[in-house]
Amino acid sequence: MRKYVIAGNWKMNMTPDQTKTLIDGIKAELFASELKAEVVICPPFIDLAAAVEACKDTKIKVGAQNVHWAEKGAFTGEISADMLKAVGAEYVIIGHSERRQYFGETDITVNQRVKAAIAAGLKVILCVGELLEEREQGITAEIVAKQTKIALMGVTAEQMKDVIIAYEPVWAIGTGKTASSEQADEVCEIIRNVVATLYCGKTAEELTIQYGGSMNAANAAELLSMPNVDGGLIGGASLKSADFAVIVKAVR
Ligand code: 13P
Repeated sequence: MRKYVIAGNWKMNMTPDQTKTLIDGIKAELFASELKAEVVICPPFIDLAAAVEACKDTKIKVGAQNVHWAEKGAFTGEISADMLKAVGAEYVIIGHSERRQYFGETDITVNQRVKAAIAAGLKVILCVGELLEEREQGITAEIVAKQTKIALMGVTAEQMKDVIIAYEPVWAIGTGKTASSEQADEVCEIIRNVVATLYCGKTAEELTIQYGGSMNAANAAELLSMPNVDGGLIGGASLKSADFAVIVKAVR
C-alpha cells in the first residue's frame, strides 16, 4: 500500500505569528478526524521553528521549501540540510517550478539538492512538470521523464523510500486551471513507469506521487480518486485552514 501525503506549500507567505495561527486553525479543523494521509506543512525558512513548535504532539510534519547541497560554508543566504534537520524539519520540497523559473534551478542542481537532503536524513518532495508550450508540443512525457531521471541520478532504490514525486504542470500552478483528473493520472503513471525502469516495479509501486496545481477543496476528491495520484502538493488552498482540511479529508 502506498502512503498518501497531502503537503501545503505556503510559498512566500506567513510570518512566525501567522504560522502559529494558521497551524492552530488546521489542527482545530482536523481535530478528531482520523487522518488517512500524512500531512506536511512547508512554510518559509524563518517560520520553521514556529511550525515545529505548533505541530509538536500532533501527526503533522513540517518541511522546508528548498535546501542547499553543500554541508556548510561560504554560501550567503543559503540553508543546509543539517540546519533543516536541527530545526525539526522532516521534509523538503526540491525543484519547484518557481525555483526553476525564477531562481535558475536546473535539473543538475535539483539532483545535487536531492542527494544532500537524503544523505542528511530528510524526506524529499521532488517536483517535476511541463510548461504549457511543452504540453502543446506533445512532449510532456519526455520532459517529466528527463526531469525525473536527472533528479534521481545517484539515488539508490533503498533511498527511494525517502522520496515523493510531485507532478506539478506549470500551467496549472496558481492559475486556477487544474489538470483534469485524467491528465493528472496519465502523467503520474508516466512518472511511475520511469521510476520502474530506473529501479524496479516494487519501488515504483511503493512511490507516493502527488499532483499539484490549483488543487482545492472543490476538486481534491476527484483528483485523489485517481489510481496514480497519491496525494497533493497544495499552494493557495493550503493557506486557508478550512480548505486545507477539506483536501486532507478528501483522502479515503
Ligand atoms: P497552487 O495550488 O496555488 O496552484 O500551487 C501549487 C503549487 O505550486 C504547490 O507547490
